[in-house]
Amino acid sequence: MLLDFTALKPRVAYQWMSSTILPRPIAWVSTISPEGRTNLAPFSFFQGVTANPPTLMFVPVNTREGTKKDTVRNIELLPEFVVNLVPFALTEQMNNCAALLPYGESEFSAFGIAETPSQKVRPPRVAASPVAFECTLDRIVHIGEGPLAANVIFGRIIAAHIRDDILGPGGFPDSAKLDLVGRLGGEDYTRTRETFSFPRPDRKQYQT
Ligand SMILES: Cc1cc2nc3c(=O)[nH]c(=O)nc-3n(C[C@H](O)[C@H](O)[C@H](O)COP(=O)(O)O)c2cc1C
Repeated sequence: MLLDFTALKPRVAYQWMSSTILPRPIAWVSTISPEGRTNLAPFSFFQGVTANPPTLMFVPVNTREGTKKDTVRNIELLPEFVVNLVPFALTEQMNNCAALLPYGESEFSAFGIAETPSQKVRPPRVAASPVAFECTLDRIVHIGEGPLAANVIFGRIIAAHIRDDILGPGGFPDSAKLDLVGRLGGEDYTRTRETFSFPRPDRKQYQT
């Protein structure tokens, strides 16, 4: 079959994209309003962008009513956030945070998720997350208009909290110890437990 994306309604295009572009990592993003009200929400349109300078991106789309999600509202007012990664053990708490709470109501307290202060930014981080990136806002790029239109948030990584017990012998994280979850289509997830290695064809040529 050939899908003509130019003729698809956004909701249907989203279903095809989210069930084919996978597995997707999950950014569990904490923000804070200028009044000090915290917010925590998961986003799987999420990726690293470059290490020079260290940058990541995630994409809160507009709601079905065309309004901005709380995460975007907070970052526009206070341009700092933390991207917490999600191991299998925290899946349920992460999923709870996808609930629509009124603006200003904290998912940390609503769902009993322990927070701990960040070092360089004002939003707190998820205490039990094994990796948390403290970020300042680089820029927001708007793509589209109305429902499901994108607010692409680029963040400059200025610090990361790495739990010591997830490190491997080489000093970098061991994916099995991290046990992160990835998002598949619909309500499905995967775990990063079955892995394999391929030596690069030319080590000198491929440095990244
Ligand atoms: C695993 C997972 C991934 C999600 N990924 C996205 C995403 O990439 N973009 C998005 O706009 N919403 C995504 N959502 C839905 C948001 O988490 C949800 O709309 C949330 O209520 C937004 O919170 P906020 O209004 O507090 O910012 C995802 C939900 C889950 C459970």
